[in-house]
Amino acid sequence: MKKYITTAIPYVNGDPHIGHAMDYCLADVYARYLKMKGNEVRVQAGTDEHGSKIYQKAEELGISVDEYVKQNSDKFKEFIAKLNVKYTDFIRTTDPEHERRCQEIWRRISDHIYKAEYEGWYCTGCERFITDKEVSENNGICPDHQKAYEKLSEENYYLRISDYKERIIEAISSGELLILPEFRKKEILKLIEDSPDVSVSRPRSHLPWGVEVPNDPEQVMYVWMDALSNYITVLGYPDVDISDYWPAEAQFVGKDILRFHAIIWPAILLALNLPLPKTIVSHGFVLADGQKMSKSIGNVVNPVEVLEKHGTDAFRYYFLRHIDTFSDSDFTWDKFEKAYNNELANDLGNLVQRLATLISKNDVEIKLVGLGLDDEFSKLMNKFEFSKAFDYTWGKVQDINKKIDEEKPWVLAKNGETEKLEKVLNELANSLVSVNKMLSPFLPATSKKIASVFEEGEITPPREPLFPKQ
Ligand code: MSP
Repeated sequence: MKKYITTAIPYVNGDPHIGHAMDYCLADVYARYLKMKGNEVRVQAGTDEHGSKIYQKAEELGISVDEYVKQNSDKFKEFIAKLNVKYTDFIRTTDPEHERRCQEIWRRISDHIYKAEYEGWYCTGCERFITDKEVSENNGICPDHQKAYEKLSEENYYLRISDYKERIIEAISSGELLILPEFRKKEILKLIEDSPDVSVSRPRSHLPWGVEVPNDPEQVMYVWMDALSNYITVLGYPDVDISDYWPAEAQFVGKDILRFHAIIWPAILLALNLPLPKTIVSHGFVLADGQKMSKSIGNVVNPVEVLEKHGTDAFRYYFLRHIDTFSDSDFTWDKFEKAYNNELANDLGNLVQRLATLISKNDVEIKLVGLGLDDEFSKLMNKFEFSKAFDYTWGKVQDINKKIDEEKPWVLAKNGETEKLEKVLNELANSLVSVNKMLSPFLPATSKKIASVFEEGEITPPREPLFPKQ
């Protein structure tokens, strides 16, 4: 089966940070899992390069916007590579092909777009229009960006969300468009009820950096119009028939941007007469010691430093197991180090070393029986409960360690109980090979190493420990 998975495209107004890793890692795990099940999987990634924030930042730095966005987009590509995340399609929203396709999308949905005067508030940090109610609740200052909302009075185009509100509510309520986790789905349903039509353009005089509205050179598309369209323009829409891959199997987004994906995006798709994505998975935030990471607090963790400390799989391990898939979770260096030493090095690294040594020292022949994928594991993965599936897998790693301690193969060897020794080591090796399959979407490089020790001819312990203790 052909399947399509998407990731949110980050703004390029800074370096990749630790939160950006979430979309990539989750999408990668799911893609690897689907591939393991025999599917043909396409994964999109990219960079969101328009909008006032980016334009202002480039101006501040005194470099050309083109150059600025190119430099930063490249940094994201490097970051994705460091995470060992594989994508098949990469989009930059400044690609001329994307811009042209966006304009065609606009033309096709123009029956649902009208022009009107906008008077109200905007946050350039969030790149969104803010309701009066929110402004007064927050005393005029964006809590996420600690910046005063800007008062706008301008002519804009609006997308008539009201044309599709009922249809979207029905799709989400019935699960036709599955929003995960359940508590976010409830929040979103409430939000849609109250959602007014949304502004989808800005006057060029206020935002010179964006895709031009067809037949109105004075107006530029609102950055979210252009950004959301990436999910289909990257597949070639509308020039190419995308029905092999669209609707997407899963779209991964952070909780802060679920609203755009669950309101504006479905409205665009319905106006285009395209099916809605099957699932939107909304993940939580990575916090530093319980607090939002921010430059002003000075608690921003540099992801490259984490990657360099113990390598890619240690990073993936922490972010996929100890950061909950759906709710906010903490990163601290202390927790990361503990997880590395106690779990990766002890539970897994030692197990591989120990078992391979026992097998090779006692010259035991191992027959692999080729166990299928564990049902409980598949159930969790199919529900996008990745951190739970990883926990479950880790429980299996620990079970093998327990079994070694109970069976004491070294005692069997000493007592000359060869038959029993062979049976026990065969059972252990088969369990590890089967657990290794479950590990592979999470820790692909480590899983490959384990497979090369146990599944490729003569078994000899790895020369270097998989996770050297530090
Ligand atoms: N450009 C938009 C997305 C457009 S998608 C059509 C955007 N960019 S962003 O750079 O602000 O965020 C990119 C992704 O990173 C989002 O999914 C966002 O939720 C996620 N995260 C940003 N900070 C995060 C954390 N601290 N923790 C987890 N994810 C976070 O929004």
